[in-house]
Amino acid sequence: MKVLVFGSFNIDKVYLLERLPERGESLYCKTYEVHVGGKGLNQALAFKKAGADVFAAGKVGAEDGAYLTDYLKAGGVDISAVYATGAHTGHTIIEVDPDGQNQMILFGGANRELTPEECDRILEKHSDADLILTQYETSCVEYMLEKAHAIGMRTALNPSPYVPAVKNLPYGCVDILILNESEGQNITGEADPAAVVRALKKLGAGTVILTLGADGAVYFDGENETRVPAFHVRAADTTGAGDTFTGYCLCALLDGKSPAEALRLGAGAAAIEVTRPGAAETIPDLDEVLRFLEER
Ligand code: RIB
Repeated sequence: MKVLVFGSFNIDKVYLLERLPERGESLYCKTYEVHVGGKGLNQALAFKKAGADVFAAGKVGAEDGAYLTDYLKAGGVDISAVYATGAHTGHTIIEVDPDGQNQMILFGGANRELTPEECDRILEKHSDADLILTQYETSCVEYMLEKAHAIGMRTALNPSPYVPAVKNLPYGCVDILILNESEGQNITGEADPAAVVRALKKLGAGTVILTLGADGAVYFDGENETRVPAFHVRAADTTGAGDTFTGYCLCALLDGKSPAEALRLGAGAAAIEVTRPGAAETIPDLDEVLRFLEER
């Protein structure tokens, strides 16, 4: 099975601070680093490292985007459907505190210039044997989900980052919905994880995978529920943890692993990723994830 990751490509500008700033406050940072990022790029790489045949699709700036596409290509991901435009590549300003928690400012740039015509061209290379994974950092997410669903592809959605428009996505076209607790709460207006999952199913989603931070993750396919605990590690930077979980967990499910095995693999990969600063560059290889899990 081929995996199409339709998503964002961002240059991550990462500022490590003593603490996150208050409103109206100016702070000096301790360090400043530039990393490859974007939920699409991160998830494509995580999927690839987990063992899938990955095709990335998206849009970058013609002048400043090669930094990202070269990185993905070197990682073995097909980038023939990553288009270039005259706009700036998307970027993210990421402030990180000493506990690894962050807040972000997103500049969509080229990511927001994808058109329905380009989506049609991207889908021409895929069939009902393939899976598409997307997030909410590009234009045309709704269009892509509906089209992919109509041609019989399996669809997976990570509705992140949450903005109110995410509530209106076509959840009936989504076979696997993978999201964190606060995204689930914002979309459904429910507080309790069980109620969130029930409400997401009511919106039409197929399988729901909800990550619960320190409480682990839950998988619900409408009949069976599986829960796994989280791995507790010292976080340096939580950026990219959800993307790492998403790529690894979905790849394991596609490989026919049980929900418990898939959640555990995703959680293990994410636990390693957060111990190092950065996003895509710190996604672990499969061997490292398997060693980590064996030791626990
Ligand atoms: O999920 C982490 C990613 O979100 C970062 O790499 C940043 O670019 C934003 O897209």
